[in-house]
Amino acid sequence: MSNQTEQHQFIDASDTKDVPPGKMKHVEAEEKEILLANTDGKVYALCDRCSHMNAPLSMGTLNGKVITCPMHGARFDVTTGKKVGEPMAPDPSKFPEPIPEGLQKMFARSAEIMSKVKTYDQPTYETRVEGNRVKVRM
Ligand code: FES
Repeated sequence: MSNQTEQHQFIDASDTKDVPPGKMKHVEAEEKEILLANTDGKVYALCDRCSHMNAPLSMGTLNGKVITCPMHGARFDVTTGKKVGEPMAPDPSKFPEPIPEGLQKMFARSAEIMSKVKTYDQPTYETRVEGNRVKVRM
């Protein structure tokens, strides 16, 4: 068996009952953080670190096949890993109460920095179900 084949073996990631339809789960394997997401009864696996600024996507929301990052709202299609929505910087002008000038400057600087950070498609991993186990190809 070649090294390349050994590097891409399916590893045991979860019991199927822990990833029911519409739910997500964070797992770790081979020094990678992986998001398992069940949409329409099929479990998909993506990198669980957002390609924008590393937030754990598994703490976001899953709506159909689209996951929204909990930190700045970038959106990704869990079936392909493709980015379908850009991150959004907080907009203090939409806050219900005025905020201090120092905080306004901090938000403005954060928005400027965020505008320079590119967001890419999420890496994905092949999955398969064997019995009641979800396997992910690493
Ligand atoms: S870390 Fe995910 S959108 Fe910013």
